[in-house]
Amino acid sequence: MSVRISPSILAADFTRLGEEIARVESAAVEFLHVDVMDGHFVPNITFGPPVVAAIKRITKIPLDVHLMIEDPDRYLDAFITAGASIVTVHAEATPHLHRTVRRIREMGAKAGVAINPATPVHLLEEIVTELDLVLVMSVNPGFTGQRFLPASVRKIEAACELIADTGSEAVVEVDGGIDTTNAAEVVRAGAGILVAGAAIFHTPDPASAVQILRHLAAGR
Ligand code: DX5
Ligand code: ZN
Repeated sequence: MSVRISPSILAADFTRLGEEIARVESAAVEFLHVDVMDGHFVPNITFGPPVVAAIKRITKIPLDVHLMIEDPDRYLDAFITAGASIVTVHAEATPHLHRTVRRIREMGAKAGVAINPATPVHLLEEIVTELDLVLVMSVNPGFTGQRFLPASVRKIEAACELIADTGSEAVVEVDGGIDTTNAAEVVRAGAGILVAGAAIFHTPDPASAVQILRHLAAGR
């Protein structure tokens, strides 16, 4: 399958969120990445379920909801009811990852687990067959516009190996600092979904920024 693009609305102009979403919709993006932050697990605070529900009303793009929150179990049902198609929790944020993942799937959403830059891929060994998505963080989570950490390339490769070795059907998503300088490299390493915030929304034409990333990802 060709690489899918998930623009992170964290980098969009929130005063015109509807228009910003329409722009990437015109570029036929596969997902919309929604970064949920609680001010505890990460220093920043962003959106809650009402914002996800409002976005759901104005677009058909499946919502890829990235929960950077402590104790995500408390909010799974609310985000899925609000319209999340994929819910990704952090391995570092919940002691009962298996239960969390089961609950996401039980509620009818796809389940992802994210790992921070300092978290090794092998931590996912016992859960990877239950996952639809492995999210490799290529920056420390919390903010848009940070610089891509080059060691993430090796982690994407390790995640792909783990997926192949275990017969998991998970896809690898990479998130943080993705731009025209590294898109081709992370795809070669095995990433199937690219999240990009600043590289899409901090440009004059987000739709063509998506197309440029797509061409690079396809090795053209
Ligand atoms: C970082 C978020 C990312 C971020 C991506 O904590 O999880 O999704 O918004 O933005 P860029 O592409 O600008 O790093
Ligand atoms: Zn994210």
